[in-house]
Amino acid sequence: MGKVTVITSGKGGTGKSTVTAGLGAALVRRGNRVLIIDCDAGMRGIDLMLGVSGELVFDIADIVSGNCPPASAIYPCKTVAELFVLPAPSDVRDEISPYIMKQLVGVLKKYYDHILIDCPAGIGIGTEAAATPADRAVLVANTEPLTLRGCDKVRQMLYDIGIKNCRLIINRFVERNFRKLGAFTDLDEVIDKAGARLLGIVPEDNAAVSRAQKGLPIEGKFKAVYALDRIAARLDGVDVPLDL
Ligand SMILES: Nc1ncnc2c1ncn2[C@@H]1O[C@H](COP(=O)(O)OP(=O)(O)OP(=O)(O)O)[C@@H](O)[C@H]1O
Ligand SMILES: [Mg+2]
Repeated sequence: MGKVTVITSGKGGTGKSTVTAGLGAALVRRGNRVLIIDCDAGMRGIDLMLGVSGELVFDIADIVSGNCPPASAIYPCKTVAELFVLPAPSDVRDEISPYIMKQLVGVLKKYYDHILIDCPAGIGIGTEAAATPADRAVLVANTEPLTLRGCDKVRQMLYDIGIKNCRLIINRFVERNFRKLGAFTDLDEVIDKAGARLLGIVPEDNAAVSRAQKGLPIEGKFKAVYALDRIAARLDGVDVPLDL
């Protein structure tokens, strides 16, 4: 039975989708079969990042309304074997309810080692639907006070729906900028504000993430890839020391 992880943040634009796509590829490199479910209805982006947007016919709403069997709406990433995507509906009005998401993911998790669920921004019903089937959550934050407030809010919401295993990824980290901004004295303070234990830090790395913008997998000799590989190992239960 696969492990189901929701990737969320509260505030938009912190890098949830990028981290989800990157972790998907990193988990595959560890020998896993991985499904990414895009729950950002109306704004879906994982299909673009995995280079399958030109092929989409069905999405998650088609499965739910009985227009197609689940396998027809799950697309293999061409460049990463064993990485698959289930796209979000292109119309936000087709957003899936939390109850239906739980039923669907309950069936799908038999076929994968990991399911990663990419959330929309905010703490509305779309985030609740994405989170309800999850065993655990990963909060993606930057080191600005507003994104950390978003994390704290979403963590409370997750707690209310029974998800107590919440870990933090600090994304787009640049040590020099962090010191210059001076909003926090150190990373411990950032972690306290987010209210979740640290899972890893992904540095700002335009070269690595621009691959996703072109539909290419986030892989190769990049510092963000190194960080994502270590985070993927931790998601697999391997005790990899944090590099702080
Ligand atoms: N580690 C990184 N280094 C450099 N740029 C990054 C990194 N992570 C994400 N980005 C950039 O940040 C922007 C937002 O990323 P992304 O779309 O993944 O965020 P999101 O949280 O999914 O946004 P939304 O809330 O709108 O869904 C993108 O331009 C992406 O390329
Ligand atoms: Mg996104």
